[in-house]
Amino acid sequence: MAKGRVQLHGVMKSFGAVDVIKGVDLEIAPGELTVFVGPSGCGKSTLLRLVSGLELPTGGSIMIGDRDVTLVHPSERGIAMVFQSYALYPHMSVAENMGFGLKIAGLPKNLIKEKVARAAEILQLTPLLDRKPRALSGGQRQRVAIGRCIVREPEVFLFDEPLSNLDAALRGQMRVEIARLHAKLGATMIYVTHDQVEAMTLATRIVVLNAGRVEQIGAPIELYRHPANLFVAGFIGSPRMNFMDGLVDGAEADSVSVRLNGATLRLPRHNADVRPGAKVTVGIRPEHFRVGPGVDAGDDQAVEFDSVIDLVERLGGETLAHLRMPSLSDGVLVVKMSGDIALRIGTGLRVGVRLAQCHLFDAQGRAVGEPGSRAAVAA
Ligand SMILES: Nc1ncnc2c1ncn2[C@@H]1O[C@H](COP(=O)(O)OP(=O)(O)O)[C@@H](O)[C@H]1O
Ligand SMILES: [Mg+2]
Repeated sequence: MAKGRVQLHGVMKSFGAVDVIKGVDLEIAPGELTVFVGPSGCGKSTLLRLVSGLELPTGGSIMIGDRDVTLVHPSERGIAMVFQSYALYPHMSVAENMGFGLKIAGLPKNLIKEKVARAAEILQLTPLLDRKPRALSGGQRQRVAIGRCIVREPEVFLFDEPLSNLDAALRGQMRVEIARLHAKLGATMIYVTHDQVEAMTLATRIVVLNAGRVEQIGAPIELYRHPANLFVAGFIGSPRMNFMDGLVDGAEADSVSVRLNGATLRLPRHNADVRPGAKVTVGIRPEHFRVGPGVDAGDDQAVEFDSVIDLVERLGGETLAHLRMPSLSDGVLVVKMSGDIALRIGTGLRVGVRLAQCHLFDAQGRAVGEPGSRAAVAA
């Protein structure tokens, strides 16, 4: 039974001469919460609108369940969509707003009432059913907009940045509610956001989009651990991964030696074409550095660098140090430490990192080898 499955085959969309979606292949399993994430303008909304039928593709096909819906009208696709601006009818009560679509569809009154009551219960809106939208908070209004979808019992829920208009605290709260709703309904959901934290916390699987193409698809933690390229490495994770310029000075069958900031690192390789003399990028996440004198001394599975403290952000629960390294071309490195640490700007700091935590990218930005596998500092 393929109810709730969504498949995209070579989906393309151009507006006039502008190619916005450049061939997307994707299969979403029933009940998955898939997040489309990427920078503003990369085509997330367009891709979602193609699934909804609000836009028609200029190439490829779309299946929902066992049906080819490529040219099917939005109302016939079994989808329901929640937008960033959730226009509710101001003169209607919460219950009327939620049931309006069903009323238009000609459902009997008692059935509408039943469905609205059930959705209201799921969304904890029962005490508010008689209120008008103006008497609701932003979060409550957004819940009504979601309720409008639930009553229709769609095969697939589509969300386009539904939390962008809410303040930070409410956004965090609604994020949790959407996760709960997904767990409760077990329905297929596609959720669009530019916020990688929202993507990481909500998604069963994340689809990272960039300029109309899929950069990588995977479970959140898979993308964090094994980004396939520089784009994904820089997009997933906060603060973002540090990138350092390295030079290959030796390449064996299963490892590559990289000169970086005065040290030589031997890192594993799998797929990429890296020859001695090739420029590479070493990526290290801020949270993977260890700090202090001799942190990794004598450990051939780690490497150390000297730096000068440029800026310190004390957040209470964690401290971010911005460090300068004289021999690095791009200068500043961000290191994240847990707890509140008093650091003096202008003083020296020795930081270390385990080679297993180093990501390596070739000149085209593709990941070379898998972090976490065998690695060693060359003598
Ligand atoms: N109807 C349209 N006509 C022309 N260009 C469009 C239209 N809709 C979207 N675009 C363009 O397509 C690109 C992707 O837009 P969109 O899907 O809204 O991005 P995102 O949701 O990722 O921010 C943008 O450059 C946007 O200007
Ligand atoms: Mg958008």
